[in-house]
Amino acid sequence: MANLNINLAGIKSPNPFWLASAPPTNSGYQIMKAFDAGWGGAVWKTLGVPVVNVSSRYGAVNYRDNRMIGFNNIELITDRPLKDNLKEIEEVKKRFPEHAVIASLMVETREEWHQIMQDVTNAGADGVELNFGCPHGMCERGMGSAVGQEPKVLKTIVSWVKEVAKIPVIVKLTPNITDITRPALAAVEGGGDAISLINTIQSLVGVDIDNFVPYPVVDGKSTNGGYCGPAVKPIAMNMLKNCAQHPGVNIPISGIGGVENWRDAVEFILLGATSVQVCTAVMHYGFGIIREMKAGLSQYMDEKGFKSIEDFRGKALPNVLHWEDLNLKYKIVASINEDKCIGCQLCYTACEDGAHQAIGLSDDLLNRKPFIIEKNCVGCNLCSLVCPVEGCITMERRDDGKQHVTWAERTKAGNIPKTFNDELAGGLHHWVPEPDDAFNTRKPKHYKLGDGGIA
Ligand SMILES: Cc1cc2nc3c(=O)[nH]c(=O)nc-3n(C[C@H](O)[C@H](O)[C@H](O)COP(=O)(O)O)c2cc1C
Ligand code: SF4
Ligand code: SF4
Repeated sequence: MANLNINLAGIKSPNPFWLASAPPTNSGYQIMKAFDAGWGGAVWKTLGVPVVNVSSRYGAVNYRDNRMIGFNNIELITDRPLKDNLKEIEEVKKRFPEHAVIASLMVETREEWHQIMQDVTNAGADGVELNFGCPHGMCERGMGSAVGQEPKVLKTIVSWVKEVAKIPVIVKLTPNITDITRPALAAVEGGGDAISLINTIQSLVGVDIDNFVPYPVVDGKSTNGGYCGPAVKPIAMNMLKNCAQHPGVNIPISGIGGVENWRDAVEFILLGATSVQVCTAVMHYGFGIIREMKAGLSQYMDEKGFKSIEDFRGKALPNVLHWEDLNLKYKIVASINEDKCIGCQLCYTACEDGAHQAIGLSDDLLNRKPFIIEKNCVGCNLCSLVCPVEGCITMERRDDGKQHVTWAERTKAGNIPKTFNDELAGGLHHWVPEPDDAFNTRKPKHYKLGDGGIA
């Protein structure tokens, strides 16, 4: 049976699933309930200076049948009194000594950082997370992302915290920056013990087109908020990969952004995360999702023969290269499984209008099943992505696997194309229809059924 325990820079937890600092970690009541349900750790809703919140606070992107694929908030840090939070941290730690309780912090001056570090350490927190990410409200006051976007300031504040820190310090990064490795390196230089990413992405999720005001609406007005939820996962994973691959960022990482199930967690761990943090999914479905997450992760690890999280942490990183190091000789083409095809022709439309005119239709109008014209297929994947039938369009390899050459190697050898007519140019002999073929209604006449080629 797989061992799910983790140790992130000295912070131990019975599994890698932590609640992110947000409304689900607003109180001891919620965190005890979450630990009881199976969560391994929790980052307390950010503690700091007194604030005033507005209503409403949230907006969402609903996509077709799915609600909240993206979520946006204009909420600030906790508005509960510091002393209440400290008392509850103590109570949670007493009841759950083996679980990770991390205090998220955001204050301004060196003295305030020193004082709050002392307060949460005395309350028994296992670690702290410095919130340099909040993209609204707090940055206007010189905190949150205003710090996260300035690596020098970030480094200074981390070093202030480290002057007094007796527990591990995690630095939470904002994604609202071009190169995430710059603040990550600053966190390392400041003495941070770990980083976590991502906080929310600056956003406007929509506009009320009758009243001309974006969401969420506060008395007829709005402001930009922070975006999170499933929609941000690809951005979070790319930033995680950038940090995990950087030789200078040699401290543990807690991954955040769109994690909703055990598969998401596995992906984050494969890209270098030691723990994963979850906010939106819990706000949507509640603490109970942890049952499936723990069981799924455990089963995955057993099936793969991984005994601990460390056995597979970062395992995907060696497979993420720069574009110029990819094999230019690798050649795949689409293949349609006629038995599975339901004749919806979505693939035909996508390839015809949005790709390379490599899918043909039968002359027989009663036969709706399309066919691939291999010579035109560049192996872009589009048709297999739009096909609604699982496994109906597969990509098949056509090169013999013996050749391997990259753009970087070709550049070094001096055999890259210099002009568009150069024989070395990639698209030189690729067929495209004549412009007038656009007016042929059903399909260009030179598509011929069955021979996989062009008449
Ligand atoms: C309503 C709301 C409030 C949040 N408050 C905080 C906060 O106080 N401190 C903090 O560091 N992050 C805060 N976050 C950001 C989350 O901790 C997390 O970084 C982000 O939501 C991405 O994770 P997710 O996609 O699982 O939601 C908040 C997010 C939401 C949605
Ligand atoms: S892989 Fe791309 S080019 Fe080939 S058939 Fe599909 S959509 Fe067309
Ligand atoms: S999208 Fe898939 S199911 Fe639809 S016609 Fe193409 S291959 Fe068949």
